[in-house]
Parts: sequence; C-alpha cells; structure tokens
Amino acid sequence: MFQPDNDGVVNDEASSSSPPLPDPPLRAAVVGLGWAGQQHMKAYAELPGVDLVAISGKEQALGLSLCEEFGVPLFVDDWSELLERTPLDVVSIAVPTYLHAPVAIGALQRGIHVLTEKPMARAAEEAAQMVQAARAAGQVLDVAFNHRRRGDIEALRGLIAEGSIGTPYHARASWMRRKGIPKLGSWFTNREMAGGGALLDIGVHVLDYALYALGEPEVRSVSAVTHAALGSRGLGGSERDTALEGTSEFEVEDMAAAFVRFADGTALVLETSWAAFRDPVDLMDIAVLGSDGGAELSIVGATALEAAEIRVFRDEDGRIADFRVPTRPGRGHIKVVDDFIGAVRRPEEWGLHDGGRALVRAEIIDACYRSAAEGREVTL
Ligand SMILES: NC(=O)c1ccc[n+]([C@@H]2O[C@H](COP(=O)([O-])OP(=O)(O)OC[C@H]3O[C@@H](n4cnc5c(N)ncnc54)[C@H](O)[C@@H]3O)[C@@H](O)[C@H]2O)c1
Repeated sequence: MFQPDNDGVVNDEASSSSPPLPDPPLRAAVVGLGWAGQQHMKAYAELPGVDLVAISGKEQALGLSLCEEFGVPLFVDDWSELLERTPLDVVSIAVPTYLHAPVAIGALQRGIHVLTEKPMARAAEEAAQMVQAARAAGQVLDVAFNHRRRGDIEALRGLIAEGSIGTPYHARASWMRRKGIPKLGSWFTNREMAGGGALLDIGVHVLDYALYALGEPEVRSVSAVTHAALGSRGLGGSERDTALEGTSEFEVEDMAAAFVRFADGTALVLETSWAAFRDPVDLMDIAVLGSDGGAELSIVGATALEAAEIRVFRDEDGRIADFRVPTRPGRGHIKVVDDFIGAVRRPEEWGLHDGGRALVRAEIIDACYRSAAEGREVTL
C-alpha cells in the first residue's frame, strides 16, 4: 500500500475517507485567470464544502466573466489586495512563476493554506523560502503536479510498487513538443519572470512523475544540456494564448536533456522540448527497466489523451510473456485540489504537506541548469 507523503501525494484510501465536512465551508481564492487558474476554479466549484469567495488577475473583463461563471462574489486586480480584502482559508496560486514565492509567503504568513502551480518557484532558493514559511506558519503548502495524478501514471506507479517488474534499475522519460513554446514573447520566455524554459515548465512534470513512479529514489548527481535552437529564431511558438500579454525576448531554453544518477546506482534519462523538429503530435512517456520485467507508457497526444495503455514486458519460463494494462483517466487538477483540501481538513497531516518534496524537484532542476552552464556533472 502507498504511504502518505507530502505535496499532494497521499494514499487514495486516506483521501477517500475524509472526515465529515467542517461547518462553515472553507473559503477559497484563486490568483491568476489563465488556463491554470481556471482549472483550480473548476475544481473548487466542483468540490463540496468549499466556497470560492474571490479571484484575482489583471484582465478585468475575463475576471468578471469568470466571477459570473463560478458565482464568485469578489474580483480584485492584484494578489496583495486579495489577501487584504477578504478572510480566506485556502488560496490557489496560478500566476507567472516569479510571483509564486511572494504570494505563497504572503498567504502563509496570514495563516492561509497554499496550493501553488508548478514549477514551485524560479529556483530552489525561492522554493526553500516557501517551505520555511509553511513550516513557520504550520500551514499546508502543496504544489500542483497534476500529471502525477493521471490515471495511467498512477497505474504505472502501482504496478512498479507491487513488484510487477522486479527492482527498477533504469528509466527514461520525456515530454516532447514540436511547436509548443507557450507563447513566444510572453512571460514564459522571459528569464526573470519564468526562471527557465522547457525544463522548468514541462520537464519538471516529467521529473515529478518519473520520481513518483520510481518510488522517490534519492538523486546523487545530474549531467544536463540545454538548447535554444528554435525559440531564439522566433520559431516553435504554439497557438496557445496566455492571459497576460508580453513583449519579452526569447531568453530561456526550448529543449533540455538530463542524465539523473540516483544514490542506489539506478538512473533516469530525461528529455524535454517545447519546440524541436520531430513528430508534430506531442509525446509524453516513460519506460522503466526492472530485474524481472519492463514497463512502458507512451502517451501520444500527451495532455490531449486521457489515458494510455501500459505495456509490460516479462518472461514466463524463459518465454516472452508480454501484456498490456488498460488504464482509466485520472482526475488531474480536480484530484490535486481534492488532495489539497483533504490535507487542509486533516491537521495531523499538515507537517507532511510542507512543500518539501517539491523543493527536491526544484533542487534537481537547479543542478541541471548549473550542469548545462558549466558543462559538467553536478552533485546534489
Ligand atoms: N499544472 C499545469 O498543467 C499547468 C499548465 C499551465 C500553466 N501552469 C502554471 O500556472 C501558472 C500560470 O500559467 P498560465 O498558463 O495560466 O499563465 P497566464 O499568463 O495565462 O495567466 C497568468 C495570470 O496571472 C495573472 N497575474 C499576473 N500578475 C498578477 C498579479 N500581480 N496579481 C494577480 N494576478 C496576476 C494574470 O493577470 C493572468 O491572469 C504558471 O506558473 C504555469 O507554469 C501549470
């Protein structure tokens, strides 16, 4: 059985047996009106015992229409005003990455539990300040790693945890896009606002679900490279609009690869691209080699595909006995928000939800950037 751990990774049994809803309901707010913020709004609207009482963002017309759609009584333009204007129990943070730490720390210091979007922060130093604030306040700090909550990734995690492929000793995982730079010229491609490019934006999801599937092995060192072959020439931008317009130069990487060495001698090869000359259909995948078998999950279409089959490679009496495991769609962001609300309702678990595991991801990504910049392996 999975053990409860932090940052939203809780065992499903615990999540499904939440204690009775407190009265009155939890007062929730969402900061950020883009795609990510709207996922949190939908989740709060769907979950029982939570009232979405305020939202915040810079786009007034969009904000007012989202207030109407979700029945939210208060809209304000800036996060600082939001924290001052109305009493809150929980807040979701879905703003450009440079704002994650100030909003989270401001909320935690006011006694508000925090669910922030990934990446946790621009760099590990900021992420560490957030964890420190959560521990000092004794509040929940979760990070939204929704792809870990895909049904196929959870099924793979279960299969490995049950020992179906023996002891894992090697893995490779990727998220590759052909033309997927979130928006050329937006905050996503500005180093000061985003902290990094493809590696920090979508590579962090790959790192997260791979570590989750492998049972959280301890990282010893990394060796990484980064490239900006397309974005720097104005190529590889997606059609996707961000809610916030911008005029940034392309200052980050559009592709990265890393060799992640674990303390137990196993390793992960990670690749990620926002933009690269490859198949136009997005791919999100993971393959794990174990002592008694192998498992592969290839999500062709990436986020567009709700669930993919797992291929399991095994021998029985020396003969190939491979099979496929169908999986069911997970609940993505709704599950992440549900986990967060579940943790908020169980004060005895708050210490497990201090952002510590997300901080480990931030430290690994930092080490990858250092490795790429210095052209050498970096020890953690
Ligand atoms: N988990 C996922 O799958 C996923 C997907 C997309 C984005 N994200 C993350 O969510 C965050 C937001 O991404 P997005 O794509 O929604 O961005 P976006 O640019 O579409 O939206 C950002 C929002 O933040 C608001 N904002 C900016 N400054 C603000 C301030 N001072 N006060 C209040 N609001 C402010 C903007 O007005 C806008 O509404 C990023 O950290 C991103 O990495 C996560």
